[in-house]
Amino acid sequence: MGQSFWDMLRLVFTLLLLNLGSSVTGDAPHSCYGAPGLPGLPGAPGKDGRDGLKGAKGEPGIPATPATRGPKGMKGEPGSPGLPGKTGPIGPPGPPGDPGTMGIAGEPGMPGSYKQKHQSAFSVTRQTSEHPLKNVPVVFNHVITNTNHDYNITTGKFTCKLPGLYYFVFHTSQTANLCVILYKNENKIVSFCDHKTNTMQVSSGGILLHLHAGNQVWLAVNDYNGMVGISNSDSVFSGFLLFPD
Ligand SMILES: *[C@@H]1O[C@H](CO)[C@@H](O)[C@H](O)[C@H]1NC(C)=O
Repeated sequence: MGQSFWDMLRLVFTLLLLNLGSSVTGDAPHSCYGAPGLPGLPGAPGKDGRDGLKGAKGEPGIPATPATRGPKGMKGEPGSPGLPGKTGPIGPPGPPGDPGTMGIAGEPGMPGSYKQKHQSAFSVTRQTSEHPLKNVPVVFNHVITNTNHDYNITTGKFTCKLPGLYYFVFHTSQTANLCVILYKNENKIVSFCDHKTNTMQVSSGGILLHLHAGNQVWLAVNDYNGMVGISNSDSVFSGFLLFPD
């Protein structure tokens, strides 16, 4: 602006000089009137005009292409947990566990059979060369058979625990006269006496007795007490339950 202004100004002065030249020559056709004035100086530029109307909407821009994707953004916050997934397949069985604690004892079982429960039988021998005392139980001190200890080898008495019919029998060896008496609760039941006629004799006797629980049975001798129990000459007392009640 500034440059062109001065250029314009120079041009104006040039034209003015040309006009002066022509007027000096004096060959102007209009001699009655004065020469036209010089053109005035250009005016100062006007003020800016008001804003124009709003322009039409522009054409749509060129769509961005994937190649012109912007820089990668920052890592976002973790999302909320998702819903539980479906149940997986059943796994293999685990190893066996430790044994549990022992349980409490069970109820008593049913009563055993007749053969198992009702048993009473004994065979005992008297092993001594000495003759037994009279009028007291003869003690057979060696046990061959004695179920439930029904025969007492200290007292020489059999005590009934199972009521029923019992059979008692003895076989005695003797070196002198001998009477064997079978007692049931202080009562003489049977008596067997044998006078000695040989160096060694054997006598015997047997009986069936019905006994109640607690009844006692034993053998005794009187003045004839030649009973012995020595090698090859035993004295044995036996008894057993034949029929329980
Ligand atoms: C045998 O009788 C004695 C004297 O009564 C007693 O002390 C002992 O316990 C009895 N023995 C048995 C096996 O019952």
